[in-house]
Amino acid sequence: MTSFAARMPKVELHLHIEGTLEPELMFELAARNGVTLPYASVEALRAAYDFGNLQDFLDLYYQGAAVLLKEQDFFDLAWAYFSRVHQDNVEHAELFFDPQTHTERGVAMGTVIEGLAAACTKAHEELGISSALILCFLRHLDGAAAVKTLTDAMPFREHFIGVGLDSAEVGNPPEGFRDAFELAGAEGLHRVAHAGEEGPPAYIWGALDALHVERVDHGVRCLEDEALVARLSRERIPLTVCPLSNVKLRVFDTLADHNLTALLEAGLCATVNSDDPAYFGGYMNDNFVQCQQALGLSDAQLRLLADNAIAASFASEARKAELRASLASVR
Ligand code: ADE
Ligand code: ZN
Repeated sequence: MTSFAARMPKVELHLHIEGTLEPELMFELAARNGVTLPYASVEALRAAYDFGNLQDFLDLYYQGAAVLLKEQDFFDLAWAYFSRVHQDNVEHAELFFDPQTHTERGVAMGTVIEGLAAACTKAHEELGISSALILCFLRHLDGAAAVKTLTDAMPFREHFIGVGLDSAEVGNPPEGFRDAFELAGAEGLHRVAHAGEEGPPAYIWGALDALHVERVDHGVRCLEDEALVARLSRERIPLTVCPLSNVKLRVFDTLADHNLTALLEAGLCATVNSDDPAYFGGYMNDNFVQCQQALGLSDAQLRLLADNAIAASFASEARKAELRASLASVR
């Protein structure tokens, strides 16, 4: 019988859809679109997935995204993700996408969003997975580019529920994106941001105070700042933690060194997520099962993590009730 960690119904809140592009699909799309990849084979590409830090990974991640050109490509990418995580008992997922990675290459905003949205619809109809899209701004580009990106995406407003902030963290603090997040708030969009992955606790304060985020993506460095932990706990600001990602990008040396248990013990609403599973060696079950083994998580802690993710999601109260019932039904 499979472990409780594997069987448990799950909610994923920190997932970059471009980071689910498996080498096999990358080669298939490259051939379909006449794009030349600088790798001879799937194996050679996988062998390059050895990262010293976030920037090493981002360089490969943006290079890989170059095979995504048509609406069908974005659909195929997201459908592959949903089909894969259905096996991991994911029942609700909130997907990040990076429009600037594509619009900068001449791909139309509608091509990206409509392809992804069609896969979300099919995932609901055929797999029973509820989902939503969150548009992320690239923080290595500037705040004005973020405002333009959101403005350009407004014709497709019905297809996304929030905005986020990702890419190279250190040297690109949240305060530069105040205007874009203010505009998002005025449009009734949810707000989240990567902070405290490689960057210091000050970037988490900045995400809260300047961007008014409802969740912090990663946030693992919050434990360096007692006052920050008190605030995150008091305001019930969830953290979308990505354990395998943190090891691959050398935020922690090994999974056994990860502070996930300490985050829970500090009373924080921590959740477990896969970030960029095609690059980091695992989807949701790999993250949960490997954390359970490396950190000795109890079934009660696993259940708490799953329940935190339901609470932290932007699903409707009715959908949250369904997700809670589903979690309660599995022993
Ligand atoms: N884009 C994709 N994955 C990311 C991560 N882990 N941190 C920042 N930006 C990202
Ligand atoms: Zn991320």
